[in-house]
Amino acid sequence: MSKIFDRAISELKNGGIIAIPTETVYGLGGNALSEAAVKKIFDLKKRPLYNPLIVHIASVNELEKLAKSIPDVAYKLANTFWPGPLTLILKKKKIIPSIVTAGLDTVAVRIPDHKLTLELLKKLPFPLAAPSANPFGSISPTKPYHVLKYFGNQLNLILDGGECQRGIESTIVGFDKAENPVIFRQGAITAEEIEKVTGKLRFSIHDNQRPKAPGMLSRHYSPNTKSCFTNNIKTTLESLKGKKVGTLLFQYPLEDLPLDHQEILSKSGDLKVAAKNVYAAMHRLDQKNLDIIVFEQLPEKGLGITINDKLRRAAKD
Ligand code: TXA
Ligand code: MG
Repeated sequence: MSKIFDRAISELKNGGIIAIPTETVYGLGGNALSEAAVKKIFDLKKRPLYNPLIVHIASVNELEKLAKSIPDVAYKLANTFWPGPLTLILKKKKIIPSIVTAGLDTVAVRIPDHKLTLELLKKLPFPLAAPSANPFGSISPTKPYHVLKYFGNQLNLILDGGECQRGIESTIVGFDKAENPVIFRQGAITAEEIEKVTGKLRFSIHDNQRPKAPGMLSRHYSPNTKSCFTNNIKTTLESLKGKKVGTLLFQYPLEDLPLDHQEILSKSGDLKVAAKNVYAAMHRLDQKNLDIIVFEQLPEKGLGITINDKLRRAAKD
């Protein structure tokens, strides 16, 4: 293994925080069993302590060290989707410091699908707590450059694993008292894909006072530039005449706007490609000193539902 990789391991063993690549977005990783390391993550992100972190592991066997009373359906989901963009909320064991779970009696766990990070997790004697590597509330990072821009030299290391292939966060699934699965946060795996394994799913009700997941806060993933979400791009643009407008579009460019103020998510109309591109496109538009960014609604099906959910939250005042 490379020198950088060895350094990543020693930084983490010494309680440091590094940026790690995953298939969804970059994470700010630290020793999940060390209260001090986890505190550093919250401080770096300026994340409120009531927002719990996801714990990343390398194999399903590790699950029983961290969680108890694991429902059969959780194993079924794990065996279907791991390594991959699914996070499970399970009853926690004592070994997980309560700062990780924000005092909840549950812990969020997933196996990420990225070669470098899986290698890292296999070599480490502890799991990694890792939230997305962005300051609280801002656009998630899908490239090492995004992380560098946010955190510069505040981090011990950014492990460069290239561009994230899925591009949006993991889907979070918890279980109710009857062990029925409930979606807490929409993500890279669609509800339909999960329902194929579990049968019909419920969505957790969004509650801004006590959010079950910050991905559910009404404003999140937001650019600094004012933004809005629309299902009628033409009318919206007419109402913004005279303003310096940028657009985030699904498939087709618009005639009357400068091309460099337009981001096309997928020319072929592929929702997977759109998901992979969406945060990077937002980052670019946010750099252009625009008056406003207009997000065009994507088709409300499959991954389009997840992406629209992120765009609506990003555009919230
Ligand atoms: O794709 C991902 O999940 C990325 C990569 C880095 O793995 N991570 C990520 O972490 O999105 P973060 O911290 O940005 O979002 C974690 C979400 C939050 O919405 C948090 O509230 C929820 O997981 N969460 C964590 N523990 C929870 C728990 N015990 N119960 C309910 N939600 C929980
Ligand atoms: Mg996040």
